[in-house]
Amino acid sequence: MKPIKKDRFSIVFNQDGYLELVDFIKNNDFNKILILTDDNTKENCLDIFLSSITAANPEVSNLIISKLFYYSVKPGENSKNIDTSIEVWKFLIEKGFKRLDLIINLGGGMITDLGGFVASTFMRGIKFINVPTTLLGMVDASIGGKTGIDFREIKNIIGVFGFAKIVLVDFRFLATLNKRQKTAGYAEMIKHILISKTPELNKIKKVDYMEDISHKMIYQSIITKISIIDVDPLESDIRKFLNYGHTLGHAIESYLLSTDRELLHGEAIAIGIILETYLSYLKTGLDYDIVNDVKKHINTYFDIIKFSVTDISEVINLLKYDKKNSDEKPKFILLEKLGKPLVNQIVFEKEIRDAFKFYID
Ligand code: GLY
Repeated sequence: MKPIKKDRFSIVFNQDGYLELVDFIKNNDFNKILILTDDNTKENCLDIFLSSITAANPEVSNLIISKLFYYSVKPGENSKNIDTSIEVWKFLIEKGFKRLDLIINLGGGMITDLGGFVASTFMRGIKFINVPTTLLGMVDASIGGKTGIDFREIKNIIGVFGFAKIVLVDFRFLATLNKRQKTAGYAEMIKHILISKTPELNKIKKVDYMEDISHKMIYQSIITKISIIDVDPLESDIRKFLNYGHTLGHAIESYLLSTDRELLHGEAIAIGIILETYLSYLKTGLDYDIVNDVKKHINTYFDIIKFSVTDISEVINLLKYDKKNSDEKPKFILLEKLGKPLVNQIVFEKEIRDAFKFYID
């Protein structure tokens, strides 16, 4: 699979990707390298990763492996916080890491967000590499320089832009995922299809089972994201398109994080996409047939979640923390038509309640 090379970073794939990664490590002559995992990726992905480094270059792999340190955190969004960041910073200091050392984040979006944040703030920024192990990480979280942690139940409210030098996508890690995790990642792929310059809704209709998601579809999804962040890496303009489904999706995720009904990020985003597609029909004239198609397709894979009137009020209340706001009014990304997102759309509370009604009905 063809690598994607940009000024700030490269995205490399499979076994060829390990060759690039080994060359990068060799050429930079790091003294110490931290591999950050969660307990699941430590168990299921670390050996694959290490043996692939050895296979890529047996001569230098021993040298690389002698420089490695390991730190593993508990899996799940609840680890993406300041306490875990402090633990990792402490570990780096205790082990004598310096500014010219390296962190490799081996995991899903939680690990690449957290590890990218720790790396970008340690000594004002040390280099890091992302090795996404989930579908969501591959198509979205590991790419594009957004790093951060949750704070006071607000998703990603503390963070910095910091670009992984290399993102290594190894499709074998998809086999370590359960169906729920894989499905969650599919939500971000649907988002990319809806906002893409050449949207093909029938592409999502062709996916009958999660197994039908091909490496080609994943590659295409990555290309869609790259084509946007290439133009607007720091989200002053069109990168906002990538937040489609996320205004309500993040608020839902944040709210449910504070209850015992926690959802995976992608699961919350899937609901956000349905709600914001309906709002697109109400506010920016998106064709109602598309709204129905999107809802039907998403509900084929994702469980429908119940929201009481109080739940909806709590979600609406959290919208004031959305990072796209310039004041307390949430600004939505809505579709005028497929592939044509509009930014800074104001939506009224009653319309959001109607969107939830559409979702639940
Ligand atoms: N996940 C949205 C972005 O990277 O901008």
